[in-house]
Amino acid sequence: MNEKLQNAFCVQINKELYSAYLYLAMQSYFKDMNLDGFANWMSVQVQEELAHAMGMYNYVFERGGKVELMSIEKPAGDFSSPLDVFEKVLEHEKYVTSLINDLTETAEEVKDRAAISLLQWYIKEQVEEEANVSNVLGNLKLAQNDPRALLLLDRELAARTFVAPVIG
Ligand code: FEO
Repeated sequence: MNEKLQNAFCVQINKELYSAYLYLAMQSYFKDMNLDGFANWMSVQVQEELAHAMGMYNYVFERGGKVELMSIEKPAGDFSSPLDVFEKVLEHEKYVTSLINDLTETAEEVKDRAAISLLQWYIKEQVEEEANVSNVLGNLKLAQNDPRALLLLDRELAARTFVAPVIG
């Protein structure tokens, strides 16, 4: 496997693990507020991010490469409201989308067709992630000043379940 591309995958594995860590911090915020449905949504998100990281981790090994693990940055934990949390989630997912695009460009640069093909899955996943988050954010904007609406949304988010993705 091309070394530059392998390193770029290692950086992205770290970013996916950071994403899991960030969403775990958000899960803690919601648990502390007794908003268990929101906490459940975040818990599913944590598992999704771990799956994203492992998809890349396994891929590098499949290609005969090696994964160098790096330190995971401390996530922010100072959220002012559920709306603030979801605004940050959307901002973060847009950032991750830009990282996946950069990683794809590196794969294109070194003409690694198998990696480009794998990354198509991640590109599509990002479209879905951003759409899901925008949806919750839109609902939150409507519910934010109405505790009953917030509790209804909490109940709705309690139904989210983790389905292990088939990556690639
Ligand atoms: Fe792994 Fe939420 O992107």
